Amino acid sequence: MIQVENLFYTYDGEETPVLREINVEIPRGIHLGIIGPNGCGKTTFVRHLNGLLPTNKGEVRVEGLSAKSPSDLYRIRQLVGMVFQNPDNQIVGMTVEEDVAFGPGNLALPSEEIARRVQKALAQVGLESFGNKAPHALSNGEKQLVCMAGVLAMKPQYIILDEPTAYLDPSGRKMVLDMVQKLHGQGITIVHITHHMDEIVNADRILVMDRGCIILNDKPGVVFSQVALLKELGLDVPEMTELMWRLRKMGYPVRTDILTLEDACRELDACLTPVFPKG
Ligand SMILES: Nc1ncnc2c1ncn2[C@@H]1O[C@H](COP(=O)(O)OP(=O)(O)OP(=O)(O)O)[C@@H](O)[C@H]1O
Ligand SMILES: [Mg+2]
Repeated sequence: MIQVENLFYTYDGEETPVLREINVEIPRGIHLGIIGPNGCGKTTFVRHLNGLLPTNKGEVRVEGLSAKSPSDLYRIRQLVGMVFQNPDNQIVGMTVEEDVAFGPGNLALPSEEIARRVQKALAQVGLESFGNKAPHALSNGEKQLVCMAGVLAMKPQYIILDEPTAYLDPSGRKMVLDMVQKLHGQGITIVHITHHMDEIVNADRILVMDRGCIILNDKPGVVFSQVALLKELGLDVPEMTELMWRLRKMGYPVRTDILTLEDACRELDACLTPVFPKG
């Protein structure tokens, strides 16, 4: 579990805190979505979860290890991997293999163990035949999978994805989202920041952030039923939720806790059948 207690954060030289009184528990194995308007503190928050930013005020604990303790921090960085939005800023190797080996290479592991981890991580993301390729020759979706393999080679229990599909076209997005589902299915905890609401309709929970605070922490159906609030924050809702919300505003007695096309079809079927008998 990751436990965050009373976390505040102010960047050096600034006066206004970017994070204010964040309290949240992230249990092992869940898929957690994080949404919120630009600049509300999402990236700043998740950078605390693996010690990329120091915990100055409050507590961050990962599996009971404290991000304030330098010796715990070393282990926390192995337990919690990070994937950022732009793969080009994350890739450091001249070949895919070299890039994936970078993290485990810093753990002072024997070279056979590093090679084994690299092969396994590449196989996990379906890039086992890409080892000798130059990363810059890959598609953006493939580059993002290389970044995920680099994280997997550290054998993390948690993977944080900070808008991992922001730079991707639909096929690259699908590649990355399918991989996120697969890793979640293998028991890895996923923390997933996005502005694409459809990516997290199946998440276990969603945090909504605004001006440095967590203002909602609930299941997707509950969060996305707050359409007016989300719109006020400048956020989208899943397309099907919006459709049902608009129908409701027009006076139709439809449910608004609808997230997917399948949910919407079922709901419209239930509403229409008494009026237009089938057959
Ligand atoms: N290195 C920094 N120094 C000073 N202020 C910063 C720094 N990085 C971010 N900020 C400020 O902190 C606030 C939160 O930024 P952050 O990147 O965490 O937001 P975000 O929710 O991830 O936004 P986005 O959706 O645009 O990615 C913003 O006002 C931003 O300008
Ligand atoms: Mg951000």
